[in-house]
Amino acid sequence: MSRVYIFDTTLRDGEQSPGCSMTKPEKLRMAAQLVDLGVDILEAGFPIASEGDFEAVDAVSQQFPWTQVAALARATKRDVERAAQALQRAKRPRIHTFIATSDIHLKHKLKKTRQQVMDEAVAAVSLARSYTDDVEFSAEDATRTDFDYLEAISKAVVEAGARTVNLPDTVGYSVPEEYGALIGRIAKSLGDSAIVSVHCHDDLGLAVANTLAAVAAGARQVECTINGIGERAGNAALEEVVMAIKVRNERLPFQTRIHTEKLYPASQLLSSIISFGPQPNKAIVGDNAFAHEAGIHQDGYLKEKSTYEIIDPKAVGVPESKLVLGKHSGRHALKKRTEDLGFQLTIEELDLVYERFTLLADCKKGLRNEEILILLHEVVGRAAVAN
Ligand code: KIV
Ligand code: ZN
Repeated sequence: MSRVYIFDTTLRDGEQSPGCSMTKPEKLRMAAQLVDLGVDILEAGFPIASEGDFEAVDAVSQQFPWTQVAALARATKRDVERAAQALQRAKRPRIHTFIATSDIHLKHKLKKTRQQVMDEAVAAVSLARSYTDDVEFSAEDATRTDFDYLEAISKAVVEAGARTVNLPDTVGYSVPEEYGALIGRIAKSLGDSAIVSVHCHDDLGLAVANTLAAVAAGARQVECTINGIGERAGNAALEEVVMAIKVRNERLPFQTRIHTEKLYPASQLLSSIISFGPQPNKAIVGDNAFAHEAGIHQDGYLKEKSTYEIIDPKAVGVPESKLVLGKHSGRHALKKRTEDLGFQLTIEELDLVYERFTLLADCKKGLRNEEILILLHEVVGRAAVAN
């Protein structure tokens, strides 16, 4: 089965978004978790951007010598040299150099011609190759770049020594079919001379879908972040990409080296370091990802988990599923909870508790165990306590 390399950019693209900046010790803690998780390449920062980023890349390189550590650099001499310096202590350093290639960026941001950009890209890759064999080139805003030009620049940087060519959907503009076609075209054109990588932003909520379409079309490196953090709407969420490949392996016959049971701990650690956690309904790692509230769902789940769960929560490190007792819940779930709380009720007692429970649940967002206990004591009294 083809291998897909997981390039984690939580500490770079993720870290550069609002509310997500991390100190050096925080980056080191997160890096340890990511290495443990099994990511293949760890992008630790953008050394030219700040002294802190430089030090973080240096510290990660020193602390995790056998991990492939990447440092970002614009396609300039200063940036590439600074990245190389920060990576000096890495045993497997990767210089990741980039320049925008779309006409929109060339005209308004860089004020350069296509030829100038091509020359600068080639020069940056050649310089980076003088420091390490492992050089990645990114064509920023690839999805809004003229495809013939993108193909030409991709070939030119590979000729100059890039081993990985990343084609980011920088502004989250692409849709899966279109992105897949673009990746397929470049992958075919580069053949075995380089790995095609993808890096998707989530502006239209399509980052993971685009990433998977790209993998199906020939991309073999995926750039992603824990909890999907990153510029604006974020990057493709690592946990979603990895679990989609794992759960739907018959449709996505690829393999990663991620230890999936470590996904939730990684998500939790990140949330404790930055200023926010994933939204409750976030796939895989959100608080509600394994919570069931509707009575029909709870009943089905209690009879056979696979009726409403496609992933065993333990497979991603979530301790257990939750049955939330709220106004949509049914008798079956309430009975299960009362048993978990140590009560063995008769049918009549359960009816009584259920009646009171629905009245209460109607005006609340969900009942906690303590509230259910009060209800049980009120309705059935201590005589019903089984243990
Ligand atoms: O989104 C983007 O284009 C990037 C590149 C620097 C890889 O983050
Ligand atoms: Zn990005």
